[in-house]
Amino acid sequence: MTRIRLHDLDFELFLPEAEVNAAIDRLAGELRAKYHGKRPLFVGVLNGAFFFAAELVKRLDIECEITFVKVASYLGTHSTGRVTDLIGLNERIEGRHIVVLEDIVDTGNTVKHILDALADHHPASVSIATLLFKPDAYTQTIPIDHVAVRIPNAFVVGSGLDHDGLGRNLPGIYRIITPAQ
Ligand code: IMP
Repeated sequence: MTRIRLHDLDFELFLPEAEVNAAIDRLAGELRAKYHGKRPLFVGVLNGAFFFAAELVKRLDIECEITFVKVASYLGTHSTGRVTDLIGLNERIEGRHIVVLEDIVDTGNTVKHILDALADHHPASVSIATLLFKPDAYTQTIPIDHVAVRIPNAFVVGSGLDHDGLGRNLPGIYRIITPAQ
């Protein structure tokens, strides 16, 4: 399936599942080397990161923990920049090595908000790992430590990412087809 319609929008296949898997393999290798022996706490950002989090941690044969938090920062196809509080963070953070797992870093507002909230809990370290990164949309200065795939600034779905609720279950990544002007 190379072309799909979700609600009112059309998408075409941009990254096949095999390429997404290969990128996650590479990232898992990086994280294994960095966190072996440190028992990191992975913090997946729901809803989108459920897919990436599962795919990543099943490749990590190191001692680690995983939990999920929720923030709301996005509506439709453009980032609003609005964020709310972190919901569901019950683990002890102080002194821990934290790896925030994102489905995609777009403007970076969400990641900034999460890092600010985590800093209040005095972790030993915090890094960010994301399935997708849009460098051209990024407005923050925080380094994005671990990126599986850098993509152009276009709206995408699949592998956990949605368009108003649809598309999260699609393997691979699909990019919006912009109608001809
Ligand atoms: P940011 O705060 O602008 O970095 O946006 C982060 C959140 O916006 C992500 O966790 C996604 O939920 C959503 N988002 C950003 N870009 C896209 C996209 O291309 N497709 C689907 N969701 C996106």
